[in-house]
Order: sequence, then structure tokens, then C-alpha cells
Amino acid sequence: MVLSILIDSGITDNPSDILIFFGRIHPLVVHFPIAFLLLAALAELISKRPKFQPLKNHTHYIWGLGCVSALFAIVFGYFLSLSGDYNENTIFWHKWSGIFLFFVSTIYYYISKKNIKLPFYGKQIVAFVTVITVFYTGHLGGNLTHGSTYLLEYAPNSIRLLAGMPEKTIPREKVTVLDSADVYLDIISPMMNRRCISCHNQDKKTGDLDVSSFINLMKGGESGDVIVKGDAEASDFYRRITLPESHKDFMPSEGKQPLTKNEVTLIGWWINNNAPPNGYFTQLNPDKNIIKVTKEYLGLDKNSLFSKKVNPPKKEAIDTLSNQGFILNMLMKDNYYLEANSSLSEKNITKNAIESLLQIKDQLIWLNLSHSNITDEHTEKIGQLENLIKLNLSRNNISDKGLIHLSSLQNLEALNLYETDVSDSLLTVIPKLKKLKRIYLSDSKATDSIVNQLKKGNEKLNIIFD
Ligand code: HEC
Repeated sequence: MVLSILIDSGITDNPSDILIFFGRIHPLVVHFPIAFLLLAALAELISKRPKFQPLKNHTHYIWGLGCVSALFAIVFGYFLSLSGDYNENTIFWHKWSGIFLFFVSTIYYYISKKNIKLPFYGKQIVAFVTVITVFYTGHLGGNLTHGSTYLLEYAPNSIRLLAGMPEKTIPREKVTVLDSADVYLDIISPMMNRRCISCHNQDKKTGDLDVSSFINLMKGGESGDVIVKGDAEASDFYRRITLPESHKDFMPSEGKQPLTKNEVTLIGWWINNNAPPNGYFTQLNPDKNIIKVTKEYLGLDKNSLFSKKVNPPKKEAIDTLSNQGFILNMLMKDNYYLEANSSLSEKNITKNAIESLLQIKDQLIWLNLSHSNITDEHTEKIGQLENLIKLNLSRNNISDKGLIHLSSLQNLEALNLYETDVSDSLLTVIPKLKKLKRIYLSDSKATDSIVNQLKKGNEKLNIIFD
């Protein structure tokens, strides 16, 4: 037997590239015996019906295709197993049930071809055993590639309990304040789940490393500990994620999406702080830079407005605003945040029209009133549109008197005051806008001295002025 020769010969210790190459065709090839054998059993079943009677004389062809393709799957699967990256126990049962499948399907092929009569539902039993074996072998194969928890990961708890699995762990809530973030569970572990666990889990322990839990991670891999507590530079884990991507030891391997710069920084910091298995992030006394990196990583640097769901705007409000000269746009697919724009309208935007905007004040986050005859009289109402993130008031008659009313816009990130008459009041209003990132002041009444003072007050503020 080719098979036993292969199994017993010495090639297992040092498989050549060509064998592994063929081995990797296995996941493709396995679909053939699955499809053929299930089809064969189905054909057998329906050929009992008078209508499908003629099928009876041909089903053995499908059985034949099934057992030949099963043989190919076995041989390629054997090559794949030589790479040695899989759970040995699962692979043992997967291999032998695959071989068993080949034998039962061959037996069926034979009795079907020779039209042999078996006593007491003999044929049905063999067909049934074949089908069960197809599912069982396929399931184990799935476990080998995806990990044994893959299939039932999202199953209801009742089904999980039947299969002897623990109840679903409640996923950790999204961190909304940095103070509540757990250093391992919220920061380190999710990175590995995204980028490493597909190759380093309980069933597929590539390099003998399993990162699915803290305890297993600390057991290390083939070459011993991968994390040296307190010393990132000495940790193989850290070394591999900081190598040039082209290096053969770089992780994740095979060109998989690497960790981001922020993620690498956080892992290094975590290891240097003795790699604790849990505990509040803030208890490790992170410095300014680590806090910044962590906020970016957890998405806490973004405007918190976006994590809120808003109700759809009232239809009448939208119609009124359209009649008053506004063009309205939805800004997101799954939320009702809106943009209103009057910059291209021929109509004069009246005080009334601005008042109508208050009806969509929850939804309105971008407002473009450029060149719309806006005056200081309008700004009190504009100041009540508290969700505004971007506001364009350029090319309007707005002076210091009007600007004062805008200091209540605490979500504002961009403000355009190009070609307006604002000047000194900038110094009182702008420092109050804590989220402001960009301000346009070209062709306003602002002076170099005002701009310099604004810059001194907030180095990060991007001031466009020339
Ligand atoms: C596509 C599969 C794949 C992914 C994804 C992957 N690895 Fe690996 N890893 C391997 C293979 C294969 C080896 C064994 C060969 C070697 O040592 O380079 C290995 C070995 C290792 C080792 C050495 C274990 C030892 O003791 O020899 C470490 C550490 C490691 N990986 C870390 C990681 C980290 C961290 C990630 C996620 C950022 C990751 N790996 C993602 C395939 C992968």
C-alpha cells in the first residue's frame, strides 16, 4: 500500500518543499469527495422513486468519483500534516476517519457496480455510515484550520452546552473612557486576536506557540519563552514584530496584515512594565506619549458625538429648510448626521431660516453658510447648534460682536472665517473651543499679532492665514 509506505517511511521528519506545496492543495481537494459522496447518497435515495428509476444504473459512477477523490484528499492531506503545525490528537482522528471514508465508499462503489444485494437494509446502512463519516471528517478538518471553537463560536448557549462547551463569554464592552481600560483584556489581547491567533491557537500551534490566553502565551513556543517580563528587547515576541517586514522571522508571517506602529509601541511598553495579565491601564503610570497612543488605538481621540445614535430628522423640517435655500446631505450610512449648505443658494438666508436649523440641531454637524448674507444678528442662533463639528461662515458680514456667540460650540473642529471682519474677539472665543483643530482667517481683520497669540495658546491649532 502506497499509504502505509508513506506513513512508515522516514519522510515525516523532514518534508521537502514540494510535499508541503502539494499538501496545501488539500483544503481545495477535500471539497470533491464531500460533494461526490453526498451526491451519490442522495442519488441512491431518490432513485427509489419511479420517476428517477433510470438513475439507478448510473449511481456507481458517482460513488467511483467519490472514492477516487477521497484517495487524493488523503494523500494531499497526509503531505499537509507533515508540516507538523496541527493539533496531534485532532489530526489523528481526522486522518483515520478520512481513510475509513475511503474504504466504506469503495465498498459501496463495488456493491453498487456489481449490483450486489445485501440483506437487511445493508446498502442503506453503508450509505448512512458514509454520509456521517463525511460530516465527521469534514468537521475535524474544519477544527484543524479554524480551531475547535470556530463552528460554535456564535451558536446559542443551548447548543454550546449540548456540545460540552462553556457558555459564551460576554464580549468586553467597548472602552469609552481610558480610566476603565484593562491593560491586557482591552489593549494587548485584542491585537493578538486580530493578527496572531489564526496561526497560534490551541489547535494550530505554529512554532508551538498559543496566544489564545495569557497563561498559554507565557508557556512560550518551540524556542522557549517568547516574553521576557520587563525586557521587550530580549523578548522574541517583540523582536519578531519589530523586524523589517521582509525578514524571514517577521510576524505575522506570510504577508498577513502586520501590527500598526501604535500596537507595536503598546506591546513593547506592556512587556517593559512586566507584562501583567490584567489591571487598569492607568495603574501602570503611562506617560503622555503612551496615553496618546492608547487613545488613538482605542479610538478615544475621535469626536465622541459619532458613537451616539441620533434620531432621523423630521420630514417637515427638511422640507422647510430646502424651501429656505439649504441643500441637505446625509453624512453617514448608518446614522442620521446631516450637512446643511446654503453657499450656492440664490436666496438670502433669513433670520427665520437660521431659526429653522434649530429643528435639526441634533443631527446637524456640518454647516456651510458661506456667502449667504449672514450678519452678527444671526450668530446667536448659530451658537445654539451645539453639535456642529464644521462651520463655514466665510464671506459674510460677521464682526467681533457676532463671533462672541460661537464660544458655545464645544464640538467644533473646523471654523472658516475667511473674508469676515473678525479680529480681537478671536482671542477670547478661540481658546474656549477646546476641540478646534483648524481655523481659516485669511482676508479677515485678524492681525499677525493676534494669530501669533493664538498659536502660542494652542500649538496644535492649525491656523490658515496669509
Ligand atoms: C500566517 C501564520 C502566522 C501568523 C498570522 C503569525 N505567526 Fe507567528 N509563527 C508562524 C510560524 C510558521 C512560526 C514558526 C516558524 C518560525 O519560527 O518563524 C511562527 C513562530 C512564532 C514565534 C516563535 C515561537 C518559537 O518559540 O519558536 C513567535 C514569537 C511568533 N510566531 C509570534 C507571532 C506574533 C506576535 C504574531 C502576531 C503579530 C504571529 N506570530 C502571527 C506563523 C504565523
